[in-house]
Amino acid sequence: MTITLTSRPRRNRVSESIRSLVRENHLKVSDLIMPLFIIDGTNKQQPVESMPGISRFSSDLIVQECETLHQLGVPAVVLFPALEDSVKDARASESANDNGLYQRTIAAIKASVPEMTVMTDVAMDPYSSDGHDGYVDKNGVIDNDITLPILAEMSVSQARAGADIIAPSDMMDGRVGFIRNALDEAGYTHVGILAYSAKYASAYYGPFRDALDSAPKHGDKKTYQMDPANVKEAIRETLLDIDEGADMVMVKPGLPYLDVVRAVSEVSEVPVAVYNVSGEYAMIKAASLNGWIDYKKVVLETMLGFKRAGASMILTYHAKEVARWLNG
Ligand code: PBG
Repeated sequence: MTITLTSRPRRNRVSESIRSLVRENHLKVSDLIMPLFIIDGTNKQQPVESMPGISRFSSDLIVQECETLHQLGVPAVVLFPALEDSVKDARASESANDNGLYQRTIAAIKASVPEMTVMTDVAMDPYSSDGHDGYVDKNGVIDNDITLPILAEMSVSQARAGADIIAPSDMMDGRVGFIRNALDEAGYTHVGILAYSAKYASAYYGPFRDALDSAPKHGDKKTYQMDPANVKEAIRETLLDIDEGADMVMVKPGLPYLDVVRAVSEVSEVPVAVYNVSGEYAMIKAASLNGWIDYKKVVLETMLGFKRAGASMILTYHAKEVARWLNG
């Protein structure tokens, strides 16, 4: 019996060479951005318990990490400071200290590996005694407009230290325009802004908050981070941030929000980043350490999923490993 089929899609999957010809999306080392956690001291490395394979590093070791990442072809890092409680206060004053750990680390990276794009995080939480991204008033309310100048000062201090791209993750209203203005007034018109535009109030940030000891001391982040149920709101936030001058926008977390990445990438005139967050990393790592999944294959499939959804760059704790695999 001869079966006649007009379409046999399998013909395009016959061999690896044909599959490579028809492949629609590609993962490249240049898509990757590695997040790094900074601690005070010299030659110090502290593993993050809930993120096996990831450590907090003192500045000198962060510089070494950046050299390695640069050699591997990773174009950018994003930095987060893990600070002692003694330097934290209600106004996150340490965040604008030009001689602070964060600023010194930015300068050290730019001095040793100038080609590495250094992205910073702008939010009060690592420096705040309240553990919130914005200023907490006496009634426990996050005050948007008191927070804006604090974020602006933090941004200018980071730019002064040599940061290439400022990435506000705080989700206050109007912060992109406010920061853009402050950067321009201070002469940093060349410094870009990557806005965490659609950042959800997510339980997937748990391991990150362990790494920085930055969990809110009271309440949650639901009055500023987005409700996981919403997608139109992500579009609204994105368009506002682009209007206010964002050079790039971000969706965060990644895996449970691939539909948001797709929706945002369809309306955005600027490149879209996705943040494959700490909890996503921890789940894949834990399953692989139990021998339940093939780590390399699962990670590469996950990365490709972000590209397929429309992301042009991926912030991921897997970046160094992925770069090694892609180069190898
Ligand atoms: C802080 C910030 C968070 C992350 C990036 N910047 C945590 C939070 O909002 O509580 C999470 C990153 C991750 O989980 O990997 N503004």
